[in-house]
Amino acid sequence: MENAEKTKRFWSKGLGAWLYRKYAGKHFSKMHEVVAGQILAKNPKDVLDIACGPGDFLFYLSNLAPNIKLSGTDIAPGMVRHAEEKLAGRATILESAGESQPFPENSFDVITIMMSFHHFHKKEEALINMRQLLRPGGTLFIVDIVAKNDFQKSFWNFLEKITNIRGYVGHYTEKEIREMARNTNFSFSIQYVEGMPKRYRICKLEK
Ligand SMILES: C[S@@+](CC[C@H](N)C(=O)[O-])C[C@H]1O[C@@H](n2cnc3c(N)ncnc32)[C@H](O)[C@@H]1O
Repeated sequence: MENAEKTKRFWSKGLGAWLYRKYAGKHFSKMHEVVAGQILAKNPKDVLDIACGPGDFLFYLSNLAPNIKLSGTDIAPGMVRHAEEKLAGRATILESAGESQPFPENSFDVITIMMSFHHFHKKEEALINMRQLLRPGGTLFIVDIVAKNDFQKSFWNFLEKITNIRGYVGHYTEKEIREMARNTNFSFSIQYVEGMPKRYRICKLEK
């Protein structure tokens, strides 16, 4: 089975997707709080959450700031359905691969990708696409687990290969994401998520 099909199947049906929908919102609540604070400080009009999963972060954001126009996309039809149900009209949710988004250039002030960039295959292509979607001065928040060195990266990738059920997984180090940002013309900064294990990082890529 192709990677994209595996990804769609894993995140649409089965125990893994069910457990994620049930518990991830709570597990990542601290992360949502910190990232939402940084987003709101930018006073954005339009925000896109790529690979939005069941829509937990968009839901959190919609409660804090009902005036922001919210959009979300995900590759897995099952996740899109759940996000639509959860958001119930508070956000536009579309089915789409993260690497190519169905929006015109200069559509968003902020784009987020939470806990998903390690699933993206063509990472620099995706960054180029996201840079086009951002308005001048816009920010892309990549919030994810980032390996502290090549050894940890290889170990995480090895664990994925053993199970081989989630489709494409390609972890990366801080040095690599910094380089990808430079190659795609973004300013880059990175920080830990206070109150969470150090593997969770907030990467801020500014246009
Ligand atoms: C770990 S979940 C994260 C969901 C959500 N962002 C969150 O923080 O709860 C990973 C999500 O990425 C989506 N995904 C994986 N690969 C993708 C890709 N190439 N393009 C778009 N979405 C993808 C999956 O369908 C799944 O919903």
